[in-house]
Amino acid sequence: MILESSYHKPVLLDETIEALKIQPDGIYVDCTFGGGGHSQAILERLTENGKLVAFDQDEDARKNVPKDDRVIFVPHNFRHLQRFLRLHEIKAVDGILADLGVSSHQFDEPERGFSIRHDASMDMRMDKRQTKTAYDVISNYSEQQLHKIFEQYGEVTNAKTLARTIVQLRATTSLKTISGFKNALRGIVKGNPNKYFAQVFQALRIEVNEELAALKDLLQQIPPMLKPGAKVAIITFHSLEDRIVKNFFRSGTVEETEGNPYMMTEKVNELKPVTKKPIIPTEKEIKTNPRSRSAKLRVAEKVMMV
Ligand SMILES: C[S@@+](CC[C@H](N)C(=O)[O-])C[C@H]1O[C@@H](n2cnc3c(N)ncnc32)[C@H](O)[C@@H]1O
Repeated sequence: MILESSYHKPVLLDETIEALKIQPDGIYVDCTFGGGGHSQAILERLTENGKLVAFDQDEDARKNVPKDDRVIFVPHNFRHLQRFLRLHEIKAVDGILADLGVSSHQFDEPERGFSIRHDASMDMRMDKRQTKTAYDVISNYSEQQLHKIFEQYGEVTNAKTLARTIVQLRATTSLKTISGFKNALRGIVKGNPNKYFAQVFQALRIEVNEELAALKDLLQQIPPMLKPGAKVAIITFHSLEDRIVKNFFRSGTVEETEGNPYMMTEKVNELKPVTKKPIIPTEKEIKTNPRSRSAKLRVAEKVMMV
């Protein structure tokens, strides 16, 4: 496979492949194909009887798909996992991988609007067929909604002030472009402006792409699609995502169970976590690929039900 090396450098590659325990004739799903780094490593371990289903909702990822009869590319959101596996007459698989978030390519392409380093319109859609952009969020959401997003998804220290200021400014000032947005909010930045806006952008990106809802939808569809003993490996980059994955692997539900009196009945959990603690990148990987620094890999296995 010829990979465009600058598209994305795969994170925790060896650790993920080792955790998946690839069966040479197996069927695997890469929910987040991107530059295809993880997919390539899976394909190298499959025989000609193996199969790889690769999802990516970003049309740009298609150019990295190898000409390989074993690969089925699905240019859609992984929250429709079961629907597309059914469409391809796949009843159960030997392993599933998801490497969440955005690719380096998406960050580095100025017009996608993901990065504070560039000027473009406030877009941030991974899937350009979707209509909701970051500009729509800052233009139409209520102050309370914006407050919640900045606080929870971005851990922005002055989330309330930020939300209030956006709502006041948007009546008179154009917040359509990254430079317009940053200039308008200059006065309320706390601490290092780059760090501050990175947190604000992360929050908007998570909201625009409904990242947490898509993750929950995906997780709930995984257990019935795995063969007994098959593994699922998920790489997260945000504490909220990691908590959702950890909780799901332990309890089989995406609801918060701890301290919730309404969750009295134990759900049957078809998964068993393989690793107690998440696997994190080595110092060496962080040095060569700083974008890996917040990555956490969790792995679970489908248990045999008796
Ligand atoms: C971190 S990158 C994956 C990189 C990949 N593992 C590699 O080695 O190149 C995440 C990719 O997943 C895609 N993606 C994120 N959320 C998705 C979703 N809900 N459905 C489908 N694709 C998604 C993004 O468009 C992006 O290309």
